[in-house]
Amino acid sequence: MNELLNKRIVLGLSGGIACYKAAELCRALVKAGAQVQVVMTQAATQFITPVTMQALSNQPVFESQWDERAPNNMAHINLTRQADLILVAPASADFMAKLLHGRADDLLSLMCLARPTASTQLVLAPAMNREMWSHPATQRNVEQLRSDGAHVLGVGAGEQACGETGDGRMLEPLEILQDVISLLTPKDLVGQQILLTAGPTFEALDPVRGLTNRSSGKMGYALAQSAHQRGAQVLLVSGPTHLTPPRGVRVIQVESALQMHQAVMAHVNESDVFIACAAVADWRATKPAEHKLKKNDQQSPPIFELMPNPDILADVCKSEKALRGQLFCVGFAAETENLEQNAKIKLNRKGAQVILGNLAQNTLGRDDNTLLWVDANGSFEMPNNTKAALASEVMRLIAQRLR
Ligand code: CTP
Repeated sequence: MNELLNKRIVLGLSGGIACYKAAELCRALVKAGAQVQVVMTQAATQFITPVTMQALSNQPVFESQWDERAPNNMAHINLTRQADLILVAPASADFMAKLLHGRADDLLSLMCLARPTASTQLVLAPAMNREMWSHPATQRNVEQLRSDGAHVLGVGAGEQACGETGDGRMLEPLEILQDVISLLTPKDLVGQQILLTAGPTFEALDPVRGLTNRSSGKMGYALAQSAHQRGAQVLLVSGPTHLTPPRGVRVIQVESALQMHQAVMAHVNESDVFIACAAVADWRATKPAEHKLKKNDQQSPPIFELMPNPDILADVCKSEKALRGQLFCVGFAAETENLEQNAKIKLNRKGAQVILGNLAQNTLGRDDNTLLWVDANGSFEMPNNTKAALASEVMRLIAQRLR
């Protein structure tokens, strides 16, 4: 299940150069299945046009509290009564100061004040120059807005449009999207420590070459993100990928299966759930070459002797913590044929509570997947969906099993 599907979001833009990022945010919200109604202050229209926002949200934009399109001329009431969430991005220093005092002299601030607080959350994504952000007045306002019930998101650090460097940039659209999904996600994994592996491993043959596989890490990262959004403490042990780790998730980057094994075993005792999503190389070179193998030095192509890597999932399932029944272990089965049969064999051979079977050709490098959930009670298919949606469903089912 995608937590944003059919959710009604009012996306408010106040004035700031970060308005250009609101266009991408709008697109990301719509892509995630939300119905987005854009409301802009007059200052925001100096930075980006309502036409752009209308095209991206597929809805006419509201800018004024005197808009005649609302038959009762009460856009601030109508729009907020239908909304699940008001997201103001960018929220300027001036707009936050206005909200703090309950002022309502334009449509967006009027809506924030008129929203039913019990059913419509208010989320603010601040964006401003670093001096404005660190000013005691702004920090005081942020604190007060939080205690008044608004969710004030963090800010990014780095180079700013004004040329200065520091805190105060608006978060990136995908970071805001993640935070909004978190807010809307049931917190059914609070108090759980979840340890995951993800990505491929890389087994060196010499300092520049190695054995690896085509795993992108997307499924494991999606699971880590979903677990975090559901309130768990998450530690992700990741092989080499090109992915940005989800915010709020602790990550240990490793390269080889041995490093992954060591990092995992060091954290088993503090974990409640272990999910082995990594595509661990089954073999490594017995003696990787110390220096780059030169083709001119070789009479014939080199032959490498391989030795087996430890099976991380099997070892975790044999740990004392797991044998005491205090660790819920989930593994994957990447197959190219006989999915159900092979997944059942792995369930027994590894000793996990659940195996999630998938066909390698349908998942490697892709954004979608189809899973077969296999446990002691039988199996059922989790139909094709995005990896994010499947991850959310897997974590929901794990939370259910833990209860
Ligand atoms: N796994 C692991 N350590 C390994 C090999 C696999 O932890 N050295 C885990 C994977 O993360 C996955 C599960 O075991 O959760 C099954 O992995 P898979 O590659 O499907 O199977 P293998 O055990 O490697 O067996 P085979 O290659 O014969 O299919």
